Amino acid sequence: MFDSEYDDCWLRYDRAESDRLDTYRRLCTHAYVSDAGPELVAVREELRRGLGGLLDREPHLWHHPPRSVEGFLAIGGPEELRPISETVDPEEVRALDDDGFLIRSVEWEGSDCTVLTAPADAGLVYGTFHLLRLMSLGEPIDDLDIVSEPANAERIVDHWDNPFRRKVERGYAGPSIFDWERLPDLNERYADYARLLASVGINGISVNNVNTRIPGREGANDATSEWEGWQLIESRNLEKIAALAGVFRRYGIELYLSVNFASPVLASDLDTADPVEPEVAAWWERKATEVYDLIPDFGGFVVKADSEGQLGPYDYDRDHAEGANVIAEALAPHGGRLWWRAFVYSEHDDRAVQAYETFEPLDGEFADNVTVQIKNGPIDFQPREPVSTLFGAMPDTDLGCELQITGEYTGQGVHACYLVPQWKEVLDFDTHADGPDTPVKELLADREGQGIAGVGIVGDDPNWFGHYLLGSNLYGFGRLAWDPDLGSEEIADEWTRQTFGAGDAGETILEILMESWQASIDYHTGGIGLMHMMYNGEAALENHYDPAPEEWPEYHGATEEGIGYDRTAAGSGYAGQYREPIAARYEDPETCPEELLLFFHHLPWDHELEDGTTVVQRLYDNCFAGVEAVEELRDRWQGLEGEIDERRYRHVAERFDEHVLQAKRWRDTLCAFFYEHSGIKDEHGRPPAV
Ligand code: GCU
Repeated sequence: MFDSEYDDCWLRYDRAESDRLDTYRRLCTHAYVSDAGPELVAVREELRRGLGGLLDREPHLWHHPPRSVEGFLAIGGPEELRPISETVDPEEVRALDDDGFLIRSVEWEGSDCTVLTAPADAGLVYGTFHLLRLMSLGEPIDDLDIVSEPANAERIVDHWDNPFRRKVERGYAGPSIFDWERLPDLNERYADYARLLASVGINGISVNNVNTRIPGREGANDATSEWEGWQLIESRNLEKIAALAGVFRRYGIELYLSVNFASPVLASDLDTADPVEPEVAAWWERKATEVYDLIPDFGGFVVKADSEGQLGPYDYDRDHAEGANVIAEALAPHGGRLWWRAFVYSEHDDRAVQAYETFEPLDGEFADNVTVQIKNGPIDFQPREPVSTLFGAMPDTDLGCELQITGEYTGQGVHACYLVPQWKEVLDFDTHADGPDTPVKELLADREGQGIAGVGIVGDDPNWFGHYLLGSNLYGFGRLAWDPDLGSEEIADEWTRQTFGAGDAGETILEILMESWQASIDYHTGGIGLMHMMYNGEAALENHYDPAPEEWPEYHGATEEGIGYDRTAAGSGYAGQYREPIAARYEDPETCPEELLLFFHHLPWDHELEDGTTVVQRLYDNCFAGVEAVEELRDRWQGLEGEIDERRYRHVAERFDEHVLQAKRWRDTLCAFFYEHSGIKDEHGRPPAV
């Protein structure tokens, strides 16, 4: 169903099962689609593909409501559909959020009509994909009454793609899909990608790496062929951005750009980027105007500042609100938004505490169009982390939750790891910010300027994700950002059935997905709160794949006496940044949940857990359990030989062989490390901890 030779992912649109086919054909062979904005072009194209595949016949697309047909689809704004939608009150439609939509089965002049309408054209795109999804899943569509609005106003994918050599930072699916050398010439892949995103409700995309200058390449800031992300803001490159914006616009997706805080210095002849200097403010204003002249619906900028070598307000003795506001104020007259990342750490022994210490005191100081973008946890996308203390701590600031769709620390396109359960845990976490029952998802929901940003996963590989099973993460990200109340299993089930079809194979794949995250936690960490035992590599921004616990004593705190990081009041004090009763729960090893125990506490190796098992023994057990689980997943996958197509079967089977090997390497390295420090043998006598 894609024009390109790339995998169709979940938009396969295979012929509907015979028990539904007749109804689908009766109701959807004819479709009346309004002629309005660019989004309607996308709607029509998608209907041609989607219905063409599902109905296994070419649909008839009309420019007026068709008469004397048994049934038809009617897609357009509430005013346009008025003649056929007496049962749909335009007021009701206009009251929906912009991206929301309504789908209702009505009768019109003897025909069964399915009305799809929305207050804005983007909603029609999302609604079209929704309807096609129902059909792809074989759901009944003859008596629909659906009103859907996204919980999160902002649902954005952040690419960490560098223009230079199209290298994607933390990308494991080949080069960047954005071919900056050839842009503004377009290729068909951009539209296919926009379709994937819109099909799951994404409404924004930031196209380049937050590291707009690659650490270690500071010399290369001139217009050489080795160009860097900060240069995309230069006038000569803006038409490239505008060309991409034109593609994504049709799918209701706004374009964002990561910019360097020091742009006024890098991209002009100013000698300062100090945010309080009027010439700096004037520069940002001119730049914003230039961008919006070309791209009137441009989303805005993303900034990583004062972090990992990127310049920021601290370089000018200003705080983060001063730094953000000068850029935000330039965007404001154009309706643009600034996503300002809270990922800062440096002078502290414990990096976990720093984001809160930096940002919490600034609550209320940020301009109205700033979103402070906070990683889900205080460290860095580890297999499991406690939730960042900033959620719930900044009620007067728009917040965004940053998740990582690409699996930097969970196996990098080689290991199968379905991350939706991790994200659910984050979004469901009760911050107690406003008394009990204030989960993160509720703090984010229903507020303009708030939402979820996910670090992108796709690359130029024909399978998009480096691993066929990892498409479930992009799918799940979008679905969850639209509706965080959806269950992990429900999302996995939708994805599996659309991607691999219903039936036994689908069941097996669903089980594989659902068990993959816990396995990853177990063999990557030992399952009780240890972090960051990955090898870093010689050069900056490498690896994070191989085990190297000896490299990171500051994260796991292993000594001969014990292991873990003391983040209680006696230690770094991170636990105290939560609201009660969470702070007290984490502060005390007796009440701290076991899965986070060593994140908050440094404990003797032989400290007894609730069931009497010692800390070190639990670490051994979990590492072994993780590997056993992966072996089990691989065996289940092997059982699918002949059940699914050979291409996807073989690819994933090979990945699983490697996954098992790597999981064993992790287990063996961690267990040897635990043994070396503790001197305590595994009570089951398993190597290498003997
Ligand atoms: C991590 C990651 C980097 C990334 C950084 C960020 O450190 O390894 O690749 O640049 O997070 O989120 O800014």
